[in-house]
Amino acid sequence: MRLSAEQLKRFHEDGFLILPSLFSKDEVAALTAALPGLYAEDTPANFREKNGLVRTTMGLHLRDATYARVVRHPRLVEPAMQILEDRDLYIQQVKVNVKAAFGGEVWQWHYDFATHHREDGVPKPLALNLHILLDEVTEFNGPLWFIPGSHQGGPVPTHLDTVTTSYPLWCVEAPEVARLAGARGIVSAKGPAGTALIFGDSLVHGSPPNMSPWNRRIFSLILNPVSNAGRSNKRPDWQHHRDLTPVVPLADDCLLPGAAAAE
Ligand code: SIN
Ligand code: MN
Repeated sequence: MRLSAEQLKRFHEDGFLILPSLFSKDEVAALTAALPGLYAEDTPANFREKNGLVRTTMGLHLRDATYARVVRHPRLVEPAMQILEDRDLYIQQVKVNVKAAFGGEVWQWHYDFATHHREDGVPKPLALNLHILLDEVTEFNGPLWFIPGSHQGGPVPTHLDTVTTSYPLWCVEAPEVARLAGARGIVSAKGPAGTALIFGDSLVHGSPPNMSPWNRRIFSLILNPVSNAGRSNKRPDWQHHRDLTPVVPLADDCLLPGAAAAE
């Protein structure tokens, strides 16, 4: 799949793209089917909220056959290669952020490169975060909030927050958020299940808690150029994979029934 010149321009200006309904209902159903079993696994790759609900479940392409295919999906991998003008991308992180109904907690204001650089030793903010909304995301169930253009001025100050949630995160200071959002506002990344989001490593983003009765599950694949691989092994493999094999896209129907047999 190729992004248009207009989409590429918007990505570079805003730091993100929202691609409504890029994946079908059947493709989303293939991805959600495995989730209850994955949440139930007793593994450190499942992180829980302070309230006990699963917050994020990681390393999924090594734990489930459908996730092993979606990380090579051409509707994710090819736009990433096109944006980065690089065909040698490795799978850096694979997860579903759950944000469950009545209890999914906040993701504070942050940009991913702060963590990738400080924890994983990634040299440059090149990695791309590719999301598929697995539920309809509305204003009620904890959508991602993006600050358009916040990637433009270089990395802003961050601090390590180990108290707000169960998940330690390098977070952007409030005055910086106010300054950046004052310039271009905030965009709420809403859409039907199957909508894809693409955003860069320095884009400031976060999401509010989910106090609605509706789940908000989002699949996230982070691809990073092999030439920009992490140099530190501080975090475990499921938070930053060590296998630098370049990802090769599969066929477009790779999530549909019969795809595994065709491989
Ligand atoms: C979220 O799931 O709301 C946060 C996702 C992210 O920070 O990439
Ligand atoms: Mn993030």
